[in-house]
Amino acid sequence: MCGIVGYIGSEKACPILIDGLLKLEYRGYDSAGLSTIENNKIICLKDKGRVKGLQNMKEINTLNSSIGIAHTRWATHGKPCSVNAHPHLDCHKTFSVVHNGIIENYNELKAFLTNAGYTFVSETDTEVIPNLIHYYYTNGDEGDKDRFAKAVRRATLDLKGSYAIAVISSIEPDKIIVARKDSPLIIGTKDNEKFIASDIPAILEHTNNVYILNDGDLAKITNNNVTFYDEKFNTINKKAEIITWDAKSADKNGYDDFMLKEIYEQPTAIRETIGTRLDQNGKCNFDDINISKEYLLGISRIYIVACGTAMHAGLAVKPIFERLVSIPVEVDIASEFRYRNPLIDKSTLIICISQSGETADTIAALKASKAHGCKTIAISNVIGSSITREADFTIYTHAGPEIAVASTKAYTSQITVLTLLAIHFSEVLELEQGEMLQNLKDEILELPSKVSITLENTEQIKNFAKKIYKEKDVFFIGRGTDYTACMEASLKLKEISYIHSDAYQSGELKHGPIALIEDNVTVVGIITDRRLLYKSISNLQEVITRGAKTLIVTNQDISEKTFPNIIRIPKVHPLLSPVLSIIPLQLLAYYVSKEKDLDVDKPRNLAKSVTVE
Ligand code: M6R
Repeated sequence: MCGIVGYIGSEKACPILIDGLLKLEYRGYDSAGLSTIENNKIICLKDKGRVKGLQNMKEINTLNSSIGIAHTRWATHGKPCSVNAHPHLDCHKTFSVVHNGIIENYNELKAFLTNAGYTFVSETDTEVIPNLIHYYYTNGDEGDKDRFAKAVRRATLDLKGSYAIAVISSIEPDKIIVARKDSPLIIGTKDNEKFIASDIPAILEHTNNVYILNDGDLAKITNNNVTFYDEKFNTINKKAEIITWDAKSADKNGYDDFMLKEIYEQPTAIRETIGTRLDQNGKCNFDDINISKEYLLGISRIYIVACGTAMHAGLAVKPIFERLVSIPVEVDIASEFRYRNPLIDKSTLIICISQSGETADTIAALKASKAHGCKTIAISNVIGSSITREADFTIYTHAGPEIAVASTKAYTSQITVLTLLAIHFSEVLELEQGEMLQNLKDEILELPSKVSITLENTEQIKNFAKKIYKEKDVFFIGRGTDYTACMEASLKLKEISYIHSDAYQSGELKHGPIALIEDNVTVVGIITDRRLLYKSISNLQEVITRGAKTLIVTNQDISEKTFPNIIRIPKVHPLLSPVLSIIPLQLLAYYVSKEKDLDVDKPRNLAKSVTVE
């Protein structure tokens, strides 16, 4: 939530900052702004709305400085407007700050600073930060070469909550100071240029050599140097990491929208995620995850904890773990799990799934689990993300950057890698499921090509999108794993088309929801489980009898004579079916959103990573 970009080097800062903001707009798009220093004076430009508005301000072209910080906002404190947009300045206009996160004690700090003579113009929590820095700078030692960095350090010690900040000052215009706690921040280096960002895609076209800040780290950045400090302002050493993502992977690459591109990237994302975890000889490789047979034998329960689509991936793999590993699995929403005192201890294995690795609730759930003595595994798509720094073990999906707010390729990659992990656990436990495991491995290796085949069928989906885009409600029904895919399909549709949708277990309809079915209501059914075929067909007939129009996604033998709109997907192992059945429904959500002429990649009120509670 909110994106930060910063630059110091030899080039004009503004174009680099704007370009970085455009790449980060998926993090928040209520307002945007930047600060730079011209002739020892801070110039701050900001505008409500998209980055384009900022980019089109004519003053931008008059700015030549090679230092600057910028921000794209997802409003928390204070409505989206120019005054509340970042950067914020202290009332003496000597420090400018961009901030991601929430300062929980800002009212207290505001009262303290007001008492000390400081004034405020915005409704934000952030505005206390530059004023606090000014306060500590004024009280610092004159002549101290680190007076600015120390003032930032001192100010951060007063902040309660979460923050990633970048600060510039007209008094020391040759440096940017950054600090983080519970909100991501990276520094990219290339010769005598340094780039700051909250997310990798913002700087990928400039460098793939990055330092990832840990909680409590502060850095002083000049064009030639980066010095890192701990909370006590002792210098610390850090090692740069090389990001293997290709710069092009953060571009639309000819597609109209990132979401469509990411839907079509799924065969590659799944193939890359399988990568070396499963070789052509069928050997599963999780040597980096030190989980022994003795440990697994002592496990009484596995909790999979995540939010949104990642939680749906957890629901999809619950039956796989239970079938292959014979350990009960609970799937929980991270924001609930962290506050409901779950019965967990060292006999509970916690698997947290987070594409971004920055979701505040999921990270908090993982930390709480560790405090109870549980072993933790993070599944993430972003190298070095916060969750990977907290977990005992990390398993990466290799889906490449996911930019669209609506998650697609992360979901199918997460199911793939978690299925491989379940197979690995079964092998570690020597459960003698050879044939079933081999069967699943073969099916996993075939997933990329089956997903490609599924992606070929778009005409029918586009036509159905045209039929339903004006609807107020859409229902998704299925049984077993088909129901879990329905939940994900329903989330996809509602978040990018703003059509109300719900998912129900087909068998549950008669217990209440069927009351909502009347003439012309749309019901989408997924049917991939042969054992439940006739029961699922009956449930769909019940809604047709009541006037519903239906769309069915299936790989079973169902005739067009019974149901008019059938989307056929390849046959697949029933446990893996969500990887295929979700594809047409991701496309359906996409085309409905396009029919409504909405911004598919940046749906209202949402942001890509939810770094606040
Ligand atoms: O980055 P994460 O996987 O932790 O994100 C979790 C959810 O916020 C995310 O999946 C969200 O539900 C998406 N907008 C769904 O498309």
